[in-house]
Amino acid sequence: MNKSSSVVLVGIQWGDEGKAKIIDLLAEQANIICRFQGGNNAGHTIIVQGEKTVLHLIPSGILHENTVNLIGNGVVVDLEVLLYEKKSLEARGIEVSPRRLKISELAHLIFPYHRLLDLGRERLKSRIGTTGRGIGPTYGDKVMRLGVRIGELRDPDRVQMRWRPVYEEKLRLLKELGETQVPSFEEIFSKSLEYFSEIEAHLVDSSSFLNESMDQGQRVLFEGAQGSLLDIEYGTYPFVTSSNTTAGFAACGTGVGPRRLGFILGLTKAYTTRVGSGPFPTECSDEAAGKWMASKGHEFGSTTGRARRCGWLDLVALKRAVEINSLDGLALSKLDVLSGLDEVKLGVAYKMSAQKLKSFPSFDLENVEVEYESMKSWSKLDGVKSEAELPIEAKNFITRIEDYLKVPIVMISTGPDRNEAIVRKDLWKD
Ligand code: IMP
Repeated sequence: MNKSSSVVLVGIQWGDEGKAKIIDLLAEQANIICRFQGGNNAGHTIIVQGEKTVLHLIPSGILHENTVNLIGNGVVVDLEVLLYEKKSLEARGIEVSPRRLKISELAHLIFPYHRLLDLGRERLKSRIGTTGRGIGPTYGDKVMRLGVRIGELRDPDRVQMRWRPVYEEKLRLLKELGETQVPSFEEIFSKSLEYFSEIEAHLVDSSSFLNESMDQGQRVLFEGAQGSLLDIEYGTYPFVTSSNTTAGFAACGTGVGPRRLGFILGLTKAYTTRVGSGPFPTECSDEAAGKWMASKGHEFGSTTGRARRCGWLDLVALKRAVEINSLDGLALSKLDVLSGLDEVKLGVAYKMSAQKLKSFPSFDLENVEVEYESMKSWSKLDGVKSEAELPIEAKNFITRIEDYLKVPIVMISTGPDRNEAIVRKDLWKD
């Protein structure tokens, strides 16, 4: 096996950490960028010279013309969304050919009944606050062995035999949820084949493709979606997404072995946000500081437009994320949003029933009481590009996070634009 470099980037909060910008910076030196989990519940927003692009499914590396982009087997794919994104990018002159965009033939498909089930369950039962994109029902079908993988559409007669009874079952479930406007099987089937004909040339065996590329020394960036606290195993269950959002899944979700994962980079905002329901110990949405974060940080979801809940940085939760991802380094985003506040706070310990907890609890997170450390804030650092320009108070904040988590902060984002960042380490060096 040749030596090759790879970087895994994962969000380590409840998503929306600003991954697209870091991916954009890292993609400059990468050859291949891969998504390995989630689907179009993600929304990666990139701003280049003031122009905003939001991608939900296609890896954001596509904006770098020398890269190849891969949608791995661990991703769930809505073909309608995929084609819409592909066409929108092409209309802007970005090449999305089979050479530049590859899709694992094993990725599972999202169908209209998955979206309807997601919305119907939200309305009547779970109220998790999902994005309504059909993510949970599609992963559910995958695990129950009722899913359809993209590559199966190569043989319509064969897939139809297995798929039709699955559809009949969904129809019964949807009736129970009061949904009567369900497209017929024939409609879903023929539309899927039509979409498939437009993307068939993009399909690959992602394991062979990635392993061979890495053997040849290609640099691979694994692009995580959502965040560690939304992980199906270790997140705040049931208020989580339906995939493994942690670094280990970069291997499973693309078809390489875990030893091929190189530098593991965890991204956190300088504060915390959450969309959807679920416990959030350091939330201060109703206080002046929370309102400040929401408005200065433009905290509205890029997929659903929902207002994000805001709170202080939670080091106890991040410690858990460090452990479950085995992080080598941290990237800190949106540090500029906190400038101008009188004080900044860090959640440093949890108590439950007056007892200090040793670690992030698996249950009853809504009942913890948070202990904070307060630090002096800084007046301004928007757009700062060098370490030397960082105010001392911001440096103290950064050092406290590093000391607590025992992981170095290797990148700091100080504004929305591509070049508003301090890069302390070149992650592509072996
Ligand atoms: P689902 O992934 O649509 O099933 O939603 C499950 C939970 O994950 C909800 O609380 C969503 O708000 C949250 N979620 C899913 N994707 C994202 C994301 O990209 N950013 C932030 N939250 C997300």
